Amino acid sequence: MSFVHIRPDWQLPEKLVTLESAYIKRRQFLKNLAGFGLGLTATSCAGRSLSSEGMEELSRTFGEPIRDFVTNPAFADAGRPVTDQLFASRYNNFYEFGLTKNIWSNAQKLPTDPWTLEVSGLVKNPKTYDLDDLYQKFPLEERIYRFRCVEAWAMVVPWLGFPMNKVLEDVEPTSEAKYVRFESFYDERITEGPAISFSDLPWPYHEGLRIDEMANDLAFFAVGIYGRTMPKQHGAPIRMVVPWKYGFKGAKSIVKIEFLAEQPATYWNTISPNEYKFEANVEPDVSHPRWSQKRERMVGEGVALDWETRETLIYNGFGEYVAGLYA
Ligand code: MTE
Repeated sequence: MSFVHIRPDWQLPEKLVTLESAYIKRRQFLKNLAGFGLGLTATSCAGRSLSSEGMEELSRTFGEPIRDFVTNPAFADAGRPVTDQLFASRYNNFYEFGLTKNIWSNAQKLPTDPWTLEVSGLVKNPKTYDLDDLYQKFPLEERIYRFRCVEAWAMVVPWLGFPMNKVLEDVEPTSEAKYVRFESFYDERITEGPAISFSDLPWPYHEGLRIDEMANDLAFFAVGIYGRTMPKQHGAPIRMVVPWKYGFKGAKSIVKIEFLAEQPATYWNTISPNEYKFEANVEPDVSHPRWSQKRERMVGEGVALDWETRETLIYNGFGEYVAGLYA
């Protein structure tokens, strides 16, 4: 299979990308895209204002209110203000629907009803859940987590969902199962995404965890956000949230989970193994080859080109829960 050598430097406004080398690579990336006949402009939309009609349209994507949940007291305060939903919901990475952050409108094409989530592989009880099964089986809780993208932007997000270990209890992996593979929805007639040799990319989006990472209490399946069902741009109707890892580990719109004996390939690691590791834990002292990870920019705080920056925390501040996994 031949892959377009696409680097997810993910539309940071050029002024935010400090390293000269990053800037040059980025130009190369855009040139490569142009080579595929696509004129692409980098956009950051978090600081860009929307018209009042735009705001209204955006707020119509917010999903239905969920009333039946408890806030988990251990995760009721992330130590930073929760990101305004009007920023979080129009600053997304969802490459199936385009290369910019501004995919919220295009993502409304995602068909989410009916939806099934198939769990298979090395388990005693393979399952195919529909949405009613998920809602009935797994009581919902709210968790406010820091969320850190490998691009060095960050948010604080109130997710609604259930710990992944509830699914482990339900399907009972066998003793041979050591890894888990997660696969996102993909239908090229719908997702379209960037109009570059799209079919050469390793779709569907897929991610993986070690089984002990999946069993960790922090690992979460989210079916909602900000008290409502999941907006499509955030990965409706169900997505992964692994808050001590970079955001790309959290596959959106999951349709399939498979338990395996061997470590599975993953989407960004297949495209650029040197830049996006399987493990992908948030580590301030481990630089991305093209930028430092020591600090992060909080989406929505300040204007786009002058976002407030904060120190990156090891394991995104969740070391007490997860450091033991990597001892
Ligand atoms: N899942 C799918 N299917 N496709 C994607 O492009 N992008 C990832 C992750 N999950 C992505 C995905 C990346 S790079 C990030 S940072 C987060 O989704 C962004 O989540 P958000 O848009 O809800 O903030």
